[in-house]
Amino acid sequence: MGRIVDGKKEEFDKFDQNIRPSSLEEYVGQEEIKENLRVFIKACKIRDEVLDHVLLYGPPGLGKTTLAHIIANEMGTNIKTASGPSIEKSGDLAAILSTLEPGDVLFVDEIHRIPRYIEEILYPAMEDFVLDIVITNGDGSSRNLRIDLPPFTLVGATTRAGDISAPLRDRFGIVSKLSYYTDEELEKIIKRTSKVLEMPISNGACHELAHRSRKTPRIANRLFKRVRDFALVFEQSEIDDAITKTSLERLKVDQSGLDQVDIQYLDALITKFNGGPVGAQTVATSIGEEVTTIEDVVEPYLLQEGFVKRTPRGRVATEKAYQHLGYEYDLNNSNK
Ligand SMILES: Nc1ncnc2c1ncn2[C@@H]1O[C@H](COP(=O)(O)OP(=O)(O)OP(=O)(O)O)[C@@H](O)[C@H]1O
Ligand SMILES: [Mg+2]
Repeated sequence: MGRIVDGKKEEFDKFDQNIRPSSLEEYVGQEEIKENLRVFIKACKIRDEVLDHVLLYGPPGLGKTTLAHIIANEMGTNIKTASGPSIEKSGDLAAILSTLEPGDVLFVDEIHRIPRYIEEILYPAMEDFVLDIVITNGDGSSRNLRIDLPPFTLVGATTRAGDISAPLRDRFGIVSKLSYYTDEELEKIIKRTSKVLEMPISNGACHELAHRSRKTPRIANRLFKRVRDFALVFEQSEIDDAITKTSLERLKVDQSGLDQVDIQYLDALITKFNGGPVGAQTVATSIGEEVTTIEDVVEPYLLQEGFVKRTPRGRVATEKAYQHLGYEYDLNNSNK
């Protein structure tokens, strides 16, 4: 869909490589996770062992992939990457595992999408560093083959921790949930991006961008890049408060980081359905969006920021939503 305030990775984020931090030192926020990783990595180096398998989970754009690369960097090893949906047959997984060298990090993105029967090959690989495969002979008979794998660290990432099976989850020694960023942390990230891309930004502009970034570094960097485009076209050598304000208006991202789809959704909920409760499907249809888009992309942030509530009877707009859109909130409305 290509919404600018959507945390999901889009085609236009492809050239992010240079603004991605490459060490724990540069990685902003997530202090507890960083502190623990520092200790575990140091201990592994002292013992000359590989790091335990790591599961990173949390909403899109919070820095899971970045952290996986940093782990490999800090361990001084190579990273090989794969993604859950691309592992369709047991042979796909075997092929990836057999390229591993001692100490490598194997990063599996969207790990919740690995089919269950393939997961089972992963269990002995993770626990005992062995690969059990079944070879089918020409005459139809088959035999089991066990191949030793070098010690490696599996780093799995997922936006849906609930979709990971318990046995897989239990095989990760380190499980970390990434949290949303504070405005101050996002300001640091924007300042860093501004340095890397050699485009200065005023404190006020930085503050404004951070505030509208939905607590998500990917969105902060994306907004920075778009505002930088406006600055370039208007021949400004710095991103100042005025150009930021104009650009954000043009991009239709409001003070709370809501865009037109969010506003349309809240407006429909309030004006067409009297504030709810109403099912997600019904609201989605009324504004011409897919229900999956509404549930996976639009609602999480609105729920987290308290614009909407989920109730057993459906979605309900909160007082905050009414105020944000400039509607009067009727406390006596029995729906609320
Ligand atoms: N802690 C951080 N410090 C600085 N920059 C960050 C941080 N976390 C993320 N970023 C920036 O945000 C961008 C998005 O992060 P990343 O790709 O790691 O997110 P993700 O959690 O893997 O998202 P997805 O779930 O969509 O795969 C990165 O390119 C990086 O520049
Ligand atoms: Mg990622």
